[in-house]
Amino acid sequence: MDIIRTKADLRKRVNSWRSTGETVALTPTMGAIHEGHLSLVRLGLERADRCVGTIFINPRQFGPNEDFATYPRDEDGDFAKFAAAGCSAVYAPAPEEIYGSGYKTEVVVREISDVMEGASRPGFFTGVATVVSKLLIQAMPDIAIFGEKDFQQLAVIRTMARDLDLPMEILGAPTVRKADGLALSSRNAYLSADERRIAPALYAAMVAAAATVRNGTAPDVAAAQAREAALAAGFQEVDYIDIRDQDSFIPAIAPGENLRIFAAARLGTCRLIDNLGI
Ligand code: PAF
Repeated sequence: MDIIRTKADLRKRVNSWRSTGETVALTPTMGAIHEGHLSLVRLGLERADRCVGTIFINPRQFGPNEDFATYPRDEDGDFAKFAAAGCSAVYAPAPEEIYGSGYKTEVVVREISDVMEGASRPGFFTGVATVVSKLLIQAMPDIAIFGEKDFQQLAVIRTMARDLDLPMEILGAPTVRKADGLALSSRNAYLSADERRIAPALYAAMVAAAATVRNGTAPDVAAAQAREAALAAGFQEVDYIDIRDQDSFIPAIAPGENLRIFAAARLGTCRLIDNLGI
């Protein structure tokens, strides 16, 4: 597996594959690679001849009081995991390769960025849309794959790619969960043993709320029950548990089609997010 550090080398590598008719999938990550990321690579290799993993901890998507400095970093371990999963290359650029001196441009996706994660983490989606647009333009893959675990992020990226006419397919991959329901996330590393035991309660609360809505309960009542269940299980704070239309993210006012439950809650120093189709 090639380790690529510059956008010039990345373009050369991707162009060399394309010149022989091979297709290329890109799986952008911030590292701390786990099975969820590797499922993106596997999907990429089902859909394309080559897969390139990227590792870049994007400073522009972290708020001033967030975990940029302590975000888990294990470059060599990540390279080994990407290689074992079948990546042909990993792109791990230095910050200057993404944000050169005098960098001034931001990509803002309006409306769908304003609620839930966007409301809880001001600037987060602008940071994500900016870095992902740059990674896509630098690599020019045929497809790029993102986890549905970050469902709102996936919607923001799809909208950005459509609006900017980026000529690649954006593909979502199903959330990978532990046997007890906890969605895989690099930030799960922050959970203590006690917190790890409590963590699946968020998914359990979402599953119960989804079933209640399917049985005809009003979405706001089901969401309130899920919030209470998460707090009762030991979560310190629920940022949101909302039931919304999964395309527009408009809050649901009645049970119906195309709904999804979205949750973000704090457990110790860890902020878990998750979502589930209803
Ligand atoms: O989901 C992530 O890991 C990041 O937000 C992404 C998409 C790689 C952009 O930095």
